[in-house]
Amino acid sequence: MLLGVEGAHVHYRARGTTVEAVRGVSLTVNKGERLGLVGESGCGKSSLARAMLGLEPLAAGAIHFDGQPVHGAKATLRRRLQPVFQDAGSALDPRMTVAASLREPLELHRVGTAASREAHLDELLDLVQLPREVKGRLPRTLSAGQRQRVNLARALALEPELLILDEPVSALDVSVQAQVLNLLESIARTRALTLVFISHDLDVVAHLCDSVAVMYAGLVVERGPASRVLGSPLHPYTRALCAARVKALEGTPGEPPSPAHWPPGCAFHPRCPVVVERCRKDRPALPEGEHRAACFVTDP
Ligand SMILES: Nc1ncnc2c1ncn2[C@@H]1O[C@H](COP(=O)(O)OP(=O)(O)OP(=O)(O)O)[C@@H](O)[C@H]1O
Ligand code: SF4
Ligand SMILES: [Mg+2]
Repeated sequence: MLLGVEGAHVHYRARGTTVEAVRGVSLTVNKGERLGLVGESGCGKSSLARAMLGLEPLAAGAIHFDGQPVHGAKATLRRRLQPVFQDAGSALDPRMTVAASLREPLELHRVGTAASREAHLDELLDLVQLPREVKGRLPRTLSAGQRQRVNLARALALEPELLILDEPVSALDVSVQAQVLNLLESIARTRALTLVFISHDLDVVAHLCDSVAVMYAGLVVERGPASRVLGSPLHPYTRALCAARVKALEGTPGEPPSPAHWPPGCAFHPRCPVVVERCRKDRPALPEGEHRAACFVTDP
């Protein structure tokens, strides 16, 4: 196990109320695993991802990377897990050239000598298949796809073991998405990277990931191998998600609940086609096992 999440809760204070964005998530990610994290907007994916990076405090629970807590971790541990966020434009400093952006993490972590860092920059550009002439350019002069490649190169500069990617290609055109995803896949394979990959696109997750965790209302409701979770889903929510491919699900049947007032019992019960009385008051747990769902009816 490389990453261990145990009973993680992430809360926010907003307009005098507490928003429970993540409400007790436990999951493990093994070395070399590529975990896809899916679920409707607002279910807590980014909050969980930021908590995994140690960027969001936990209201309860713990998150360990290679046996050490990520919250309050030293730089030597932090550099082993790196984020890639959706908006490469805002992730890069608009006043810094590509070379300066790539050099920065190497300098901060005092990696190599000035000369070896320059050689490292060239290797990073080759890795993400960017021409060396981009080194002197500012982010705004690059295409969105090129910016996301720079962002990826920056994340890879410190040779991390785990990448946490939050909708890394959602802002790109479909053809560019495919190129960046293929690149990511080939880098992940050659470097034996572990991935936590957040996406709304189940087809992309099916292509890239070997396991999937489905989130609903701040909880993981289904977990297992990607082929099984997406091919023969157990949880009624995952079934609806797979049938509707996310977008069509939003608004039908029923709306996603508000995180300031999650429904009691199973949070999916107001929308569930197979709801039983018990679902309205008891919360189903996620059982142990290879492929499992938190549901009284479909995985009792
Ligand atoms: N900084 C914050 N302050 C208050 N509430 C927040 C904050 N960040 C997120 N939330 C709320 O927490 C809930 C979960 O948000 P989160 O961004 O984790 O969801 P998500 O699954 O990543 O959604 P999306 O698919 O839209 O990116 C949402 O209701 C969101 O409005
Ligand atoms: S526990 Fe009940 S409400 Fe929740 S998904 Fe299962 S059947 Fe539906
Ligand atoms: Mg998000």
